[in-house]
Amino acid sequence: MRRIIFATKNQGKIAEIQEIMKELNLEILSLESAGIDADIIENGSSFEENAIIKVKEIMKLTNDIVMADDSGLEIDYLNGAPGVYSSRFEGENTPYDIKNNKILSMLEGVPDEKRTARFVCVIAVGFPNGEIITTKGTIEGRIGYEIKGENGFGYDPIFYVPEYNMTTAQMSPQLKNQISHRAKALNQMKAQLRIRLGEILE
Ligand code: IMP
Repeated sequence: MRRIIFATKNQGKIAEIQEIMKELNLEILSLESAGIDADIIENGSSFEENAIIKVKEIMKLTNDIVMADDSGLEIDYLNGAPGVYSSRFEGENTPYDIKNNKILSMLEGVPDEKRTARFVCVIAVGFPNGEIITTKGTIEGRIGYEIKGENGFGYDPIFYVPEYNMTTAQMSPQLKNQISHRAKALNQMKAQLRIRLGEILE
């Protein structure tokens, strides 16, 4: 079975990716289960750059196919912030309650139509021949007026999706996994891998 190393230490992401990719004949391994120890500095200025940085660093350490992702929240009223700084916004170790309340206060008095925002996810895959491809998924929404919902993580409690009249933290994990930025980017990558790896995966 063909192996793919997924450049994350987050077991939650591995589980989500294994679920979405399950009908492909691929073994998806975390860095840990592949025995790779790497501390990667994500200093790119876009999600694409960061995903590619991660893939390139791990490609130096293995001949397997390597996959990485980078994601975050873009708020139009804040000119795209926190963007690539999403996890570092207000400090890497600051609880999301505080980060989310900070964003709500930065948008105080801002009307509905100017509260547009999106979650973005870029997936990059590097092949042993050195080629790297990327796919991108987004989910459009608005920043709410208060923290709502217990599910999900990060900025989910302030990310309101008008079509569903709820935040992504109020969605069931099943629903979020069907419509999320990460699911869209992964599904596109699945289609690319089917084409590129062809019969190996059938
Ligand atoms: P990374 O892709 O693991 O570097 O994560 C980027 C950051 O973006 C996360 O720490 C969250 O702050 C935010 N983020 C990315 N995806 C989501 C999501 O689905 N819900 C809430 N926050 C998210």
